[in-house]
Amino acid sequence: MMKIAIIGADGQLGTDLSKVIAKDEQIPLTINDIDITNKEKTFAVLKKHAPDVVINTSAYHQVDKCEEELQPAFAVNTFGVKYLARACREIGSTLVHISTDYVFDGGKDRPYLETDMPNPQSVYAISKLAGEQCVKYVLDKYFIVRSSGLYGEAGCLGKGGGNFVEGMLKRATSQSEIKVVTDEVLAPTYTLDLANKIYELIRTRHYGLYHIVNHGQCSWHEFAVKIFELLGRHITIHKITAKEFITIARRPKYSVLKNEGLARLKMDNLRSWQDALKAYLVEKGYLR
Ligand SMILES: NC(=O)c1ccc[n+]([C@@H]2O[C@H](COP(=O)([O-])OP(=O)(O)OC[C@H]3O[C@@H](n4cnc5c(N)ncnc54)[C@H](OP(=O)(O)O)[C@@H]3O)[C@@H](O)[C@H]2O)c1
Repeated sequence: MMKIAIIGADGQLGTDLSKVIAKDEQIPLTINDIDITNKEKTFAVLKKHAPDVVINTSAYHQVDKCEEELQPAFAVNTFGVKYLARACREIGSTLVHISTDYVFDGGKDRPYLETDMPNPQSVYAISKLAGEQCVKYVLDKYFIVRSSGLYGEAGCLGKGGGNFVEGMLKRATSQSEIKVVTDEVLAPTYTLDLANKIYELIRTRHYGLYHIVNHGQCSWHEFAVKIFELLGRHITIHKITAKEFITIARRPKYSVLKNEGLARLKMDNLRSWQDALKAYLVEKGYLR
């Protein structure tokens, strides 16, 4: 039996990790228990619990806000990760650190592999990549897990409790026509599937960098169309380009990840994004 600390246990991914990890193995920690930007407290809390594994789901990830608010972005996504890595090294814990598809610049037209060179295009992505580097240079026993377009039952705490699916459903209650970006392509991922795979992966002790996403790819527009198609609702969804939908931070045009590392371990049995989306809609009670 392992003792697994979950940092950000009430977040979107943290909630699903808390569901899938055996109750007697998990130590769920919220920001009230541990704030990773506080070095002394981070060391003290981890020393007290002495977990075998620490899963860090925390992030400062309001991507546009990060462009103006560099300090909190680096405090959580880089320095906090460094403190965690140091604490893990001291107590001999394995660190599982969650990162992002946004470390890539989006210039590719085929799914990104773990061996592809990152080239972050925003402060958020730079701070996340720097966090990855801190994990790598401090620790030998680590998993860095990059994922993409997360949605899960709890909603994303760092983004006001919603996610893309909930955002679309909300907009459809007040607008008869919706505009969604068509030239950003990704592999949206259900946090329940990600949580299950992380739990499986940590048991292998095959440390390293992994991409973990649901299979396939779509634009945000195609994702939105699929939500309403599955629900049998007729909503007009117009295509717009990222240029028309102006945001402060630059986002990659193409950030589809390939689960190459998992495939090497013969563990890449994630379902398609369409099947995962359907399961999410069922879990939320929108679909039977
Ligand atoms: N959401 C996406 O689409 C997406 C895509 C790719 C990668 N990711 C990565 O996936 C991870 C999980 O995302 P998510 O959607 O589950 O995020 P989330 O719902 O915002 O959860 C993050 C959790 O971390 C906590 N937290 C924030 N700052 C902290 C700090 N300084 N110390 C300790 N805990 C802190 C949050 O608590 P409070 O909110 O109470 O502060 C929350 O419980 C993140 O690392 C993110 O970068 C996300």
